[in-house]
Amino acid sequence: MTKIAKDKLRLNNQDISNQDQKNNDQAPYLESLKSYVKQYKIQNGETPTYFIQTFGCQQNENDSEIIAGIMDASGFISAENYEVADISIINTCSIRENADTRLFGHLGILKTLKQQNKNRFTMLCGCMMTQDQHLEKIKKSFSFVNLIFGPHDIYRLPHLLWDSLENDKQIIAVSKENLMPSQENLPITRSRKFRALVSIMYGCNNFCTFCIVPYTRGREISRSFSSIIKEIISLRDEGYTEIMLLGQNVNAWGKDFRDEKEKPKNFAELLEAVAQIEGIKRIRYMSPNPRDIDQQLIDTIGKYKNIEPHMHLPLQSGSNRILKLMGRRHDRERYLEIVRQLRKARPEISLTTDIIVGFPGETEQDFADTLDLMEQVKFDSAFTFIYSAREGTPAAKFKNNSDPEQISQRFQRLIELQNTHSLEANNKVISQVEEVLLEGISHGNKNILTGRTADFKLINLSIPQEIYQTLPSEAINDQGNLNGNYFEGKYCLVKLNKAKTFSIEGEMVEIQC
Ligand code: SAH
Ligand code: SF4
Ligand code: F3S
Repeated sequence: MTKIAKDKLRLNNQDISNQDQKNNDQAPYLESLKSYVKQYKIQNGETPTYFIQTFGCQQNENDSEIIAGIMDASGFISAENYEVADISIINTCSIRENADTRLFGHLGILKTLKQQNKNRFTMLCGCMMTQDQHLEKIKKSFSFVNLIFGPHDIYRLPHLLWDSLENDKQIIAVSKENLMPSQENLPITRSRKFRALVSIMYGCNNFCTFCIVPYTRGREISRSFSSIIKEIISLRDEGYTEIMLLGQNVNAWGKDFRDEKEKPKNFAELLEAVAQIEGIKRIRYMSPNPRDIDQQLIDTIGKYKNIEPHMHLPLQSGSNRILKLMGRRHDRERYLEIVRQLRKARPEISLTTDIIVGFPGETEQDFADTLDLMEQVKFDSAFTFIYSAREGTPAAKFKNNSDPEQISQRFQRLIELQNTHSLEANNKVISQVEEVLLEGISHGNKNILTGRTADFKLINLSIPQEIYQTLPSEAINDQGNLNGNYFEGKYCLVKLNKAKTFSIEGEMVEIQC
């Protein structure tokens, strides 16, 4: 970025102090950033642009929405890719080794671009930044990076960014402690029109032995009931009908409350309160942990039809021996019991899961237990992962004699079994008519729409001629294809015609206007 003379700026040059963090008064820095952008325009004749690349989970996506909100509120304009952006931002993830590797691949691209244009500005944030080994590598091999901050520092981004741009200095500001960002004071640019992400808690206390999250995101901190409800009501007023409550351990919400006023509230009560907000048609949540599923939660899911008939309930392994080594607090019997209760409360519920193959010491018998449990549950779909050792986690020190060839064969067997179950589940609903919330245009075909049923099945649908003819002109773009923007967030009824492994093909029967 081109440096701007200090006297041209309306400065609010205060030091970052602890008090400042607690007050979270970023408004003056947002004003300074606005002045920066104005001056940049005067000097360069164009508005500075930014591009955000997000890796990782939906909580990272939600963080990127706040970062985009801060950039937009300051007057920067979003760009399509690194090449055309003045500011490149990468929000990193550390969950498996390939996530780390991808960051360094992207930094390689940015290094080349920086050599071509010295004025480019680079920002890194997210979970990888909380780990010293990555910071060391970046300092050594990618020293051109201008600003580094962690997941706990987003709330002070206006200050950090302004300081780094204005004073042309490299800033590394990674807080180890979660100071509970008071997110409601920050601007946000939501990436979707059909589903609003709402973080309800941060961090995780479970310390599963394979997982890096408790080290990168810190201990569990729940957002207050009133601030969550306030955000959801304002989302409803903006027109959102689908809400996704987010937390690494979402159903542990409220367990950390010390304040007497908040104390009686738990996740089931929060869910119930959200379900009672008029106009909220679909409530999703991600990810619950089997450890904190109780009867009250199951009853609530049974009682409110606008709580999605879908639960993503990570299993990790079907072997009690491995679950114990993983530090999971559930065994296969408890998991199956939860599944039974959920299906009793909500017979139409779809179940999805996460499974890890090749955890240190996994035997053929352990793996057979996982396949057996999958046969008993028949998940609608599953995310399957090969175990990846994460530096700093207990499992990284476990003896691991596993044969990569054998693990990869197990992984294939797991995928094959899951694929048959997914196809079976999709076949069950063929010839039914279901309500679909439209998410946009299919990547492969510009005249096919995509959307989700209430139980989160992915639907690709065509529009029959008789409905196509009734569409208003804004539904079709200049090239004569469907205009995704018009359809995003609308509901329609779809006749489900053909099951595939990962999606269902259907035809629109009726569209909401
Ligand atoms: N909080 C969620 C998990 C978030 S991470 C939960 O507890 O359910 C998403 C998934 O990544 C995990 O469920 C797990 O299956 C997988 N995962 C996490 N750490 C991993 C590792 N070290 N190797 C392979 N997969 C991992
Ligand atoms: Fe990781 Fe376990 Fe926490 Fe999930 S519950 S984020 S797997 S430590
Ligand atoms: Fe990745 Fe951090 Fe999310 S490690 S999965 S971005 S919590």
